[in-house]
Amino acid sequence: MQPPAFTAAPAYQALLSHYDQAQHWSMRDLFAQEPTRFSRYSLEAAGLFLDYSKNRFTQTTLDLLLQLAREREVEAQRDAMFSGAKINLTESRAVLHTALRAPSSMRMLLDGEDIGGAVHATLAQMQAFSDQVRSGAWLGATGQAITDVVNIGIGGSDLGPAMVCGALRPYAHARLQMHFVANVDGHDLAAVLARVKPATTLFIIASKSFTTPETMLNAHAARRWFLQTCSKADLARHFVAASTNATAVADFGIDTANMFPFWDWVGGRYSVWSAIGLPVMLAIGSEQFGYFLAGAHAMDRHFCSAPLDQNMPVLLALMGIWYRNFFASASHVIAPYHQDMMRFPAYLQQLDMESNGKSVTSDGRSTMSATGPVIWGEVGTNAQHAYFQHLHQGSDLIPVDFIAALRPSHTLTTHQNMLLANCFAQSEALMHGKNLAQASAECRAKGMDAAHSAALAPHKVFAGNRPSNTLLLPALTPATLGALIALYEHKVFVQGAVWGINSFDQWGVELGKELAHSILTELNGAPRTDKHDASTNGLIARALAARQ
Ligand code: F6P
Repeated sequence: MQPPAFTAAPAYQALLSHYDQAQHWSMRDLFAQEPTRFSRYSLEAAGLFLDYSKNRFTQTTLDLLLQLAREREVEAQRDAMFSGAKINLTESRAVLHTALRAPSSMRMLLDGEDIGGAVHATLAQMQAFSDQVRSGAWLGATGQAITDVVNIGIGGSDLGPAMVCGALRPYAHARLQMHFVANVDGHDLAAVLARVKPATTLFIIASKSFTTPETMLNAHAARRWFLQTCSKADLARHFVAASTNATAVADFGIDTANMFPFWDWVGGRYSVWSAIGLPVMLAIGSEQFGYFLAGAHAMDRHFCSAPLDQNMPVLLALMGIWYRNFFASASHVIAPYHQDMMRFPAYLQQLDMESNGKSVTSDGRSTMSATGPVIWGEVGTNAQHAYFQHLHQGSDLIPVDFIAALRPSHTLTTHQNMLLANCFAQSEALMHGKNLAQASAECRAKGMDAAHSAALAPHKVFAGNRPSNTLLLPALTPATLGALIALYEHKVFVQGAVWGINSFDQWGVELGKELAHSILTELNGAPRTDKHDASTNGLIARALAARQ
């Protein structure tokens, strides 16, 4: 049975009145009043360290938020997910991506059957294949080793492997260049095909459904390109698939012996742990891929066993809810201070926004409250010279997650010190701010006269009191990255559980797909229907006219 609506929860009501005072608190004061705030509101889990002390809360706030989590039955919902219950109600599916990273000794049941065997058989298949490709034993049509791997997939079938391959660049195999083609914009595929040679390229067609139009169009185009110089018999050495749809894979012309399966209980945005992670295993090898899975599993164990008040995903989720539902913060920034994590904000965008960008509850009622925020971001320090102006002086309250690795994979110590100094300085500046008296004093100290100082100082004021979390990794490794991704997966889960929404479907992507299909027939020359609105009709007409 569904718990009552989120906004009807007693703790939600208590938080509403608590917010009346809390909105006026200053974090500077909170730190002054509580010298142990850093040690009290920080914790370690699965090799990650989280400092959440720079948030606008006291122990009372936290207690109420934890009460909210209990009233919303987060623990029972978590246990249902791990036990294989079909919590993705609209698709009647279990949600068991956590089974993909469980050790083989652990039983993971679905409908009474242990799915561990199938999971580990696929891992073994991936390992055998990637070992051959990496060693050079897997030969292409002309007897040469593979030098380039092109992953063709979109959404979760692209973002996960692309992000992880980028983040784990120092672990990558020297001979194998990884390429990712997602967009139906032909510029994406054309640019990659211009850089690779058919005889030494391996294509992975990555699609859970094997029906996604963008992926199918790119896959067929890549196949045609390959067949310009190679024979159909050669396809088996150059095209493999990661999918749940064996029939469609065979119809495409890929030998199902070259298909790496996964299952409907793995959501697209949670699939990097599955066969969709094949590019990652090819890049870093099966041993490191094992550490990646183990890091995520360590976070799973923490999530399942730590009390709520010491549970990292739960605490991150509750801080987010505090800002989203009480301070009305509409967006949340992800700022990784690590160049190799360039794609991490985009990855989290899909994870969070496709999961919790919903306005109905699991039982089809209006949520009556704000749900998932807009997730955005860019690596630091680049971001500081772009949008941080808005974070510091803009009119919105935008919480930030800073993410940094303490040990780099390079030896440029000065760079690393400057990077970390900037990361820590930003959270300090966001919290502390600078008041008018300080800004004026600085102007005067620089020799400005009173009039000049009075005119300039207001522009140099920072309101401060802007919240952030800081996540520190000892180093960016397969294990810590695995733990970090799992942390955010569970954060998103907890928020969805509190809001009472199904975080595992994505009906919101359907309407655009349907309409694109109908517009495509018109752009391809079918008689114009003029059944669209005037704007859409006008745009179609202009596109058709431009061809003549
Ligand atoms: O359109 C959204 C979506 O279904 C995502 O959830 C998914 O990751 C992506 O498309 C790709 O789907 P597939 O792996 O089936 O091609």
